[in-house]
Amino acid sequence: MSGVIRVLLVDDSELVRQSVRAMLELDSAEFEVVGEAANGLQAVAETARLQPDVVLMDINMPDMDGITATAKIMASTPVGVVIISVQGEQEYLRRAMKAGARDYLLKPFTCEELVKSLRAAATPGPSLMAASAPPPPKRQGKIITVFSTKGGVGKTTIVANLAAGLAQGGKVKVAAIDLDLEFGVLATMMGVRTQGSIVDLCRLEQPITPELAGRLLAKQNQSGVGVLAAPPLPHLASEVDGDGRVDRSRSYVSELIESLSASHDFVVIDTSLSFREANLIAFDKSDLILMVTQPEITALESTAKGLDVLLDRLEYPREKVQLVLNRSDTASGLSHEEIGASLGHPLSYLIPSDGTATLVAANTGVPMVLKRASRTPITEALLQMAAQVGGGEGVVRETVPVPVQLLKPATSGGVRRLFGLF
Ligand SMILES: Nc1ncnc2c1ncn2[C@@H]1O[C@H](COP(=O)(O)OP(=O)(O)OP(=O)(O)O)[C@@H](O)[C@H]1O
Ligand SMILES: [Mg+2]
Repeated sequence: MSGVIRVLLVDDSELVRQSVRAMLELDSAEFEVVGEAANGLQAVAETARLQPDVVLMDINMPDMDGITATAKIMASTPVGVVIISVQGEQEYLRRAMKAGARDYLLKPFTCEELVKSLRAAATPGPSLMAASAPPPPKRQGKIITVFSTKGGVGKTTIVANLAAGLAQGGKVKVAAIDLDLEFGVLATMMGVRTQGSIVDLCRLEQPITPELAGRLLAKQNQSGVGVLAAPPLPHLASEVDGDGRVDRSRSYVSELIESLSASHDFVVIDTSLSFREANLIAFDKSDLILMVTQPEITALESTAKGLDVLLDRLEYPREKVQLVLNRSDTASGLSHEEIGASLGHPLSYLIPSDGTATLVAANTGVPMVLKRASRTPITEALLQMAAQVGGGEGVVRETVPVPVQLLKPATSGGVRRLFGLF
């Protein structure tokens, strides 16, 4: 296709049509609104008459709804259809994709999202539902899962900063997946507005491909990290890895991780505090599991139990599991030597405390490592971790050194010795 993209607007609300027209006319060089329709019947007739490149189609309309109209258009005058939907219409959305829609937009959408979607739909290619078997993976990115067996120790903070640090301002392709399926807040912490969540992918009833997974990634502005949000409500988690799955023979989490690792250099995964199925699949797929803990006796006790599961029961190689001691400089009465030795596993990364910086970062949705003007001990430590996890290429940082004795293998029975002190 060359030149201007010709668009037909279909919505029963004149106000919506006007505002979309206004958005598109801002970029009049790229788009031309060639017509409007107020219901599905008119949409089918106007598509045949005007032969637009793209039809922007609302779902709920009188006379004929947008899904039926999409199916009729695809049967008679196939063009790229972009469905407009509102949150909560996921079931309709799936039907629209089956009817042949190329893309969808959730209301309210920005001008940028509208333009991106129309451009994609105007480019010849398969519909979302027609995309079938995953293409052979072009590259196999490194998969890193961040986990803990105690809540609130800093998993999500670390995922956000690790992903942003690995991305190096967009030079490296990084995806971050929120597998904290019930209460995940990664998208909020990274300041992204999502176009949907992991649950939308599971409802499509077709294999998850890199293209499909990529469409749901919301880009974090400053870093370029693509974020896949957790389901919007806790009860939807079971559709991803539980009894609520549309097809119980499939592992959506596995398909998703594989797809994103085929199209990204790094996939960083946030988890919930549990050994639920999504987490177990993430551990299996991962090259590295970062286990986060804090210098506090109850966190350390849970970490010891978690290490026991990962290393002794699930039998992952010791080098696959690395410990991150967050808030490492807290005056806890426990030395790093004691902690490392007592857990029977070396501490690989020390991240100091900075309550103000973490709070401001979370509230503004900009991970700390992206604030290049104000380097602090916490950002240095996080960047150092990203550099080491990423293979140490390209980024040279001053480090917060890990004490040498922590890197020595710890003595066995140490956990009990430490916990026996209290
Ligand atoms: N190094 C740090 N210094 C000070 N505060 C921190 C640090 N790391 C995290 N926090 C704060 O601790 C709280 C919990 O962090 P976060 O949400 O990242 O933990 P989590 O392990 O993901 O929690 P959950 O188990 O609820 O998912 C947040 O308020 C965060 O700002
Ligand atoms: Mg979290």
